[in-house]
Amino acid sequence: MAEISVACTQGRIRGRRRSFFAQANIRTPWLKFAVVILPVVFFGIHAINTGATGDGETNFEMIAPMQKHVKVPDSRRISLEGKKLVALTFDDGPRDTTTPLLLDYLKEWEVPATFFVLGSEMLKYPEVVEREIADGHEVESHTMWHQNLAELSGDDLYNDLNSARQAFIEVVGHEPKFIRPPYGSYDLGVQENAGAPLITWSVDSLDWKYMNTESILHYAQLYLSDGGIILMHDIHPTTIEAVPYLIDVLRGQNYEFVTVSELIEIRHAEVHPGEVYGSF
Ligand code: NI
Repeated sequence: MAEISVACTQGRIRGRRRSFFAQANIRTPWLKFAVVILPVVFFGIHAINTGATGDGETNFEMIAPMQKHVKVPDSRRISLEGKKLVALTFDDGPRDTTTPLLLDYLKEWEVPATFFVLGSEMLKYPEVVEREIADGHEVESHTMWHQNLAELSGDDLYNDLNSARQAFIEVVGHEPKFIRPPYGSYDLGVQENAGAPLITWSVDSLDWKYMNTESILHYAQLYLSDGGIILMHDIHPTTIEAVPYLIDVLRGQNYEFVTVSELIEIRHAEVHPGEVYGSF
């Protein structure tokens, strides 16, 4: 009790409470100004950045959890508004054999792509994932072990999705924004537990089945339309060799290449965890 009463009286001089500034030994006027104003400015900017609104509520539910980090530079966004857009996506990597060659081609042709990587593979070849990001591509989750998620029970489903999240945190420092379910397979349980939007595709190139350039070009021309997402796999040499031809053909049809996140932002689309999107 004695200690408490001493503590209580320390802030008082002759029965009058000492001001915060006096207690903190802050005397100069400009320093008082800085102590009061700077936190107000800081938290004001913080509130604006995090989407806090004036009525004390946040608008986080308006956008996907990680979506707020996505920002297409204004000049690029404006230049792509109203254009025909396509997102090239590559699943099942990374590999240290095929993926680097694909990255060479994409760099040469100045095309951004989206890689849906397996957690198990990204842990094996983190340097390939680092190059994907350094080259300006998007890297998202294709789960940890490429299991059919719709066939998994609660714990197994959680383990796969959570292991992939941990692999992302370890290799790239943050969780994936999007999940592409293996085989495009999902059910209500997957949707409820995904914790991120599910991104499928509008064009299946069937590159894994026919293993040649002609088939990839055929399916792309047959099914692609504006805002489409093309599914390919960067683990097949035949797919890598087809990519320059595909880029050339699509450029001839006035398509512009964007990542999935860019496509979403340029189209002003709202995406929500557990919902499934194949084009925008
Ligand atoms: Ni796959």
